[in-house]
Amino acid sequence: MRYQHHIFICTNARENGDCCAARGSLDLLKQLKHELRNRGLDHDGGIMANKSGCFGLCQQGPNVVVYPRGSWHRVTDTDDVTALIDGLTHSNN
Ligand code: FES
Repeated sequence: MRYQHHIFICTNARENGDCCAARGSLDLLKQLKHELRNRGLDHDGGIMANKSGCFGLCQQGPNVVVYPRGSWHRVTDTDDVTALIDGLTHSNN
């Protein structure tokens, strides 16, 4: 199976709290997976979402990168999750 889009969300945690995990990225990953499943976009739908380590832009998080297109996103809430998926399904790359 080759996915058309692979979404990576940083779930890195730092003791000082300046990190994507402290801004709710694990919950956002759950929302991403839930919405992909609900729309039939996971597995054969061609979009996968996974945890990632730190991208080095910790103060701007929660950070998401999408490959192979190489786009970067700040995803902070359910509306952002929906907008991210809408953006992937309304484009061909
Ligand atoms: S903790 Fe997420 S980019 Fe560093």
